[in-house]
Amino acid sequence: MILNLPKAPMIDLSRNADGSSDVRAFARDVAEGLSREQKRLPSRYFYDAAGSELFRQIMELPEYYLTRSEFELLTQHRKNITEHFTKEGFFHLIDLGAGDAFKTKILLKELSHQQHAFDYVPVDISGDAMQQLTNSLQQELPDVQVQAVVGEYAQALEWLQVHKSERKVVLFLGSNIGNFDADEGLAFLSSIRGYLDKGDQLLMGVDLRKDPDTILLAYDDSSGTTAAFNLNLLHRINRELGGNFDLEQFRHYALYDPQEGVMRSFLISQQQQQVYLRSLDRSYTFAAWEAVHTENSRKYTMNQVQGLGQQSGFRTDTIFQDERRYFADVLFTAV
Ligand code: AVI
Repeated sequence: MILNLPKAPMIDLSRNADGSSDVRAFARDVAEGLSREQKRLPSRYFYDAAGSELFRQIMELPEYYLTRSEFELLTQHRKNITEHFTKEGFFHLIDLGAGDAFKTKILLKELSHQQHAFDYVPVDISGDAMQQLTNSLQQELPDVQVQAVVGEYAQALEWLQVHKSERKVVLFLGSNIGNFDADEGLAFLSSIRGYLDKGDQLLMGVDLRKDPDTILLAYDDSSGTTAAFNLNLLHRINRELGGNFDLEQFRHYALYDPQEGVMRSFLISQQQQQVYLRSLDRSYTFAAWEAVHTENSRKYTMNQVQGLGQQSGFRTDTIFQDERRYFADVLFTAV
């Protein structure tokens, strides 16, 4: 069954009934994270307008191999991948964290070219990104039906509930799964599985283990773009929560743990200092060289990925990789 043709091609689940986005949740998470003995700030707050633009620039950096590797593998295997999607007729192609859909467009072009029956449901927290994507698809692929959803992954999954019994293929590309803690990642995949029926599919991108130096450089690039991306989180706190962080007094620090396969990013306070957040009416003290943990980016072995799929109710169908075997898109089927 086909989704109602989008009368409004974009649904915004990120706003409250009064039109405001949820600054309260941001304030709560920042207060909780900065009150810990080992301070942390959740990486999902990186993506305000400036952060999304910086991430777009990161994806073009020579050191950031992830995007190019996945682009290469999708280009090389696009026929094979789309053949798996289209075996059973009409489906909704749901793209979690779609952004500008730069990589997904490879598959969309292939599907459209072969005149397959599907519609495209990009999901992203950035309303601007979803508006631009809807416009660009109208120009580039006018035959593709698009219903963009603006919201967090969890909100989007709720929305999917409405379409419970319709065939779905979920895309979760870019190794976004790697930014979850291990237990959260498992819970997230299990919740995706909960909204799918047996036989529905999930194509998930994962960054694989490799030379630690290659990984480290990708998160500590020579142009300082990743540093700016990390520090932008403090900018956002200043702007949205009335903070007075002095960005000059913090620096980006990236560390790769080759046993755990986790890239960890921090903001380091370069001196003893106090920061006041007006909207919380609270001050936080930072010792000299104290670290605030801001992000994990997990790198996987193939066994780990398959185990993750299996534990969340999927069977591994096919593994697609780039030439250098830096990255994999794994096709799972819901069992
Ligand atoms: C979005 N995510 C998969 C990126 C990553 O590689 O973990 C975010 C990022 N952080 C620093 N550079 C890129």
